[in-house]
Amino acid sequence: MKKNYLYIQTIGCQMNVYDSEKIAQGLGALGFEQTFLLHRADVIILNTCSIREKAEQKAFSFLGRLADLKKNKPSLIIGVGGCVAQQEGERIFRRVPHVDLVFGTYAVARLPELVGRIVRDRCRVLDVVPERTIIEGPPLDAANGDGRPSRFVTVMRGCDNFCAYCVVPYVRGREVSRRPEDIVAEVENLVRSGVREVTLLGQNVNSYGKKEGLCSFAKLLEKVNGVPQLQRIRFTTSHPKDLSDELIDAFARLDKLCRHIHLPVQSGSNHILNRMNRRYTREDYLDKLARLRAACPGIAVTSDFIVGFPGETDSDFQETLGLIRQVAFDGVFAFKYSDRPKVPAATFPDKVPETEKAARLQQLFDVQADITLGKNQALVGSLQMVLVEGDGRRPKGATEDVPDKAPQCTGRTSCNKVVNFSWPPEDLSGHKPRVGSMVAVCIEKALPHSLLGRPQKDASRAVHMKGARSYAA
Ligand code: 5AD
Ligand code: SF4
Repeated sequence: MKKNYLYIQTIGCQMNVYDSEKIAQGLGALGFEQTFLLHRADVIILNTCSIREKAEQKAFSFLGRLADLKKNKPSLIIGVGGCVAQQEGERIFRRVPHVDLVFGTYAVARLPELVGRIVRDRCRVLDVVPERTIIEGPPLDAANGDGRPSRFVTVMRGCDNFCAYCVVPYVRGREVSRRPEDIVAEVENLVRSGVREVTLLGQNVNSYGKKEGLCSFAKLLEKVNGVPQLQRIRFTTSHPKDLSDELIDAFARLDKLCRHIHLPVQSGSNHILNRMNRRYTREDYLDKLARLRAACPGIAVTSDFIVGFPGETDSDFQETLGLIRQVAFDGVFAFKYSDRPKVPAATFPDKVPETEKAARLQQLFDVQADITLGKNQALVGSLQMVLVEGDGRRPKGATEDVPDKAPQCTGRTSCNKVVNFSWPPEDLSGHKPRVGSMVAVCIEKALPHSLLGRPQKDASRAVHMKGARSYAA
């Protein structure tokens, strides 16, 4: 019997990665097998992001490249999902006539039904009506994860914050939380198939469960912490204004919760934070961080920044650089402000010119690069527990340290630092560690974006950070 093939292209955040896995699972149940060859596909699904204009352009340029494929194979089904689909709706059909299906952020679990309808009726399908609830469909299984030991689990969707620059509340709608028992069941399902780390996802996890009267996010973490054989829990993203004492305390209490928080601050200037409608000040942010660091010494902190928000002066930007130096983040993501449809900031005056935005972004990256390297260098000599995620690549600039032929492993520390190491080290024999196993690695060299290390025999001495509490393997 002829096989049917599915090709999925994912743009954007971790939630889209999660949704794409659910899509693969749903269409897998209809008999579609995933392919990584575009020309072989019978169905192509593009999962889109509209957080910045560039991501949206990327989606349309991918779709443009599919025109010839569709001409040569008229039975090909092309579907567009995610945030651009929700935002643009049927305009996508007008702009890209070879698209058959537009499905929004609420329709992921309905996709098998929608594709089935197209196969049967050979019609175009549009499904972008916002709803009050989100149907998640069957729990994610590990089949579509390529054996990765670390997976995403969405715990809530949408956002009620309405930051002035952000399109999320318009394309993902109001906050909706999943029931804790469904989340725990999904994590257990993944763990049964070998998953050892989960990252709980939500646009603003600290609001988890509030509307529905479910448990708090910290309580949810506690429940997930109780899943046997799960080794690590991460989560993203937490809004600084909602970072509760209970969650801060969870970092001190829960043994599986990794020592890393992604806490987007966006700007170091109170004037800009106010215009962004972030509802905290620079001082509030620093205070929360101090409490986090007291509860969990050595916790890695990463953040997001927007440069060139309308009205951002050079002195506002200097305050951002000052904050970056003061906090000494482990890493940052930074973006040039980009106008989005419907968001209030799109109508703000005092837009910052593109050249100025680009110059500020570069300056920010330069300041952070030194800090990141310094943080990595401080780990040289420490012993870290690394969750093995796969075969490492020889990192750039590592030629003299990494023997040519030695098989490479890659993984991450609890603080989310990438560690590459070769196997076996001279003094150890035996098999390369399995993906999903924990290995104690002594850090020997710091590179700008990763660490190089040597695996140790005695894992029980491993610590997350120099001087921090020790962990048995
Ligand atoms: N322009 C630039 N960056 C943005 N982000 C969100 N909206 C915009 C925008 N309009 C950034 C924020 C957010 C991250 C996911 O994307 O920093 O934390
Ligand atoms: Fe966007 Fe703000 Fe909600 Fe984050 S908290 S998703 S930046 S509106």
